[in-house]
Amino acid sequence: MERLQKVLAEAGIASRRKCEELITAGRVQVNDEVVTTLGVKVDPKQDSIRVDGKPIRKQSKVYLLFNKPKGVITSAEDPEGRKTVTDFFKHLKVRVYPIGRLDYDTEGLLLLTNDGDFAHLLTHPKFHVPRTYLATVNGVPHGTMLDKLRSGIKLEDGMTSPAEVDYYDVDPDKKEAIIKITIFEGRNRQVRRMFDAIHHPVIKLKRVQFGPILLTGVPRGKSRPLLPVEVEELRKAAQDVGAGKSHNIHKGELDV
Ligand code: URA
Repeated sequence: MERLQKVLAEAGIASRRKCEELITAGRVQVNDEVVTTLGVKVDPKQDSIRVDGKPIRKQSKVYLLFNKPKGVITSAEDPEGRKTVTDFFKHLKVRVYPIGRLDYDTEGLLLLTNDGDFAHLLTHPKFHVPRTYLATVNGVPHGTMLDKLRSGIKLEDGMTSPAEVDYYDVDPDKKEAIIKITIFEGRNRQVRRMFDAIHHPVIKLKRVQFGPILLTGVPRGKSRPLLPVEVEELRKAAQDVGAGKSHNIHKGELDV
């Protein structure tokens, strides 16, 4: 059983808040009875639900892999009027929203869906699936510095948990290096703060892997639907944290 406003929102009628307004305005019927109180629970499979007399249709679930460019905000709306990830999906019949977030200046793999349960599973801290990034940093960090990131480093909100960290590419004139880092938790600006802590600030950050899913073959600003098998793999990775350990990505395999 689910709350009526949630079921309406998931059927793409409107946002959850707007659906609450529809209910209190007396425009929603459940099994031919008008419901005006909030919090009523329904069974979307059994109950007949209508809005303004029209039956709601269950939306098919959509799962997308997007290669987010930098300079795009990961939220549905931005009060400052900046470009948002949902601007890229206005042509779809369904409303999709991002699973987790990437900073405005971070690019790379972002999943979007209209499946609230799936999004919840993949963003819940208890089920945190590993995320892998290529971080282009200022200078070339010494191996002992990378060891610090591997074992855990003190940030202002506490020690980080162990990360997988490797050199991906080093600039011949040693001005910068690309470091591949996999983290198993998702604090705000975590990767940037980890490199700040070893005094090699991030110049460019790109997420290249999310659990078992790699960002390959999707140009910047473009998306592709996830295959059903990939959706299943992600569900499994969330339930079996650690199963999606980073692939052995080698230099040249991914666009930086
Ligand atoms: N870590 C960051 O610092 N930024 C991101 O966008 C993601 C992880």
